[in-house]
Amino acid sequence: MSAFTLSRRVSQAGFSPNAAASQRAKQLKAQGRDILDLTIGEPDFETPDHIKAAAVQALANGDTRYTPTLGTAALRAAISAKLARENQLNFPPAQIAVGNGAKQVIFNAFAATLDPGHEVIIPAPFYPSFPEMVSLNDGKPVIVPTRAEDGFKLTRASLEAAITPRTRWLVINSPSNPSGAVYGRDDLLMLAEVLRAHPQVLLLLDEVYEHILFTDTPPPHFLHVAQDLVERVLVVNGVSKTYAMTGWRVGYGAGPAALIQAMGVIQVQSTSGASSISQAAAVTALGGDQSFVKERTAAYRARRNILVKGLTAIEGIELQPPEGGLFVFSSCKGLLGKSTPDGKKIATDEDFVEYLLESAGVAGIAGSGYGLPGHFRLSIAASTESVSVASARIADAVARLS
Ligand SMILES: Cc1ncc(COP(=O)(O)O)c(C=O)c1O
Repeated sequence: MSAFTLSRRVSQAGFSPNAAASQRAKQLKAQGRDILDLTIGEPDFETPDHIKAAAVQALANGDTRYTPTLGTAALRAAISAKLARENQLNFPPAQIAVGNGAKQVIFNAFAATLDPGHEVIIPAPFYPSFPEMVSLNDGKPVIVPTRAEDGFKLTRASLEAAITPRTRWLVINSPSNPSGAVYGRDDLLMLAEVLRAHPQVLLLLDEVYEHILFTDTPPPHFLHVAQDLVERVLVVNGVSKTYAMTGWRVGYGAGPAALIQAMGVIQVQSTSGASSISQAAAVTALGGDQSFVKERTAAYRARRNILVKGLTAIEGIELQPPEGGLFVFSSCKGLLGKSTPDGKKIATDEDFVEYLLESAGVAGIAGSGYGLPGHFRLSIAASTESVSVASARIADAVARLS
């Protein structure tokens, strides 16, 4: 018997489909299997040298002490300048919170605002941490499925039907992990109209894939179509994806001063400020040379095109080409009910993903983990060659189903 009992929070927490699938792929690789790992949304590029150099310089300068809880003055100023320059948004440093990744910022926002019974609307497919973070903070995730026909975006009817007097937040992640959906002007206008009728609802915009965009013109920012709602919006972003800095753990939120202060109350009692060295590096990331961002997005786009073309040609697989983000999210519903060469039935998306792993050595993640069964997610944050070979191997594996 265990010497302790787990808290209700932890006992009810779900698993991370990303972590489980990526661990499995790593285990098989370690056993010598030839596995193409398309599970994780982590840029395969290195953090650029000039950003690393800023961290080395920070160390040499003795920049090794606690920082203010909500971030160094230099980083909050750099974020404020980034939001003004790239997004034409006006958030002074006092309205900016720096956390250990966008994840902590989102967690703190929920911890600072949710009481038992509060609901948070999360469109599916979703980033699995959203509902888990809501539950861990005593809120109730309200999952609203979206359809491929609607570009995996909320419709007015589905959003209106989900809102209740207890709704506290709506979470929009655009470009989306996992679907690649990007909310355009009309979608944003619709969200704004619905939200205006429900003043109890705050809007969390997760923009971590902002720069990994495959459309020719970026959509307007929500706050440009609904500046009147600025007091109800938390903009969340970070350096993990754009600057290939996943391990540095720096993310940020920009929003109403009272919310930011409340998030600081949570953070000061959990982690205090993010790493001093990482914050110094993030100042350089946000304010320094940006040319590599476009180059890397072009590489992601090329891989996305390879995968979209390859998968679209496979009978039984259907997809909406992603407009942004690091993933291709496809339906495998047309393959359910088929049998593998050794007689196993493919009854679910999980069976299909397992089959791809075992028979083709391609590791992806089942859509069930993102709240949308019958689908699977493949990452384009892997080398162009891996993506290309994976596509051919999947075609071959599907052809062997009967
Ligand atoms: C939608 C979304 N938000 C947030 C994060 C976490 O970002 P960070 O590394 O800044 O915590 C991820 C990472 O996969 C993500 O996909």
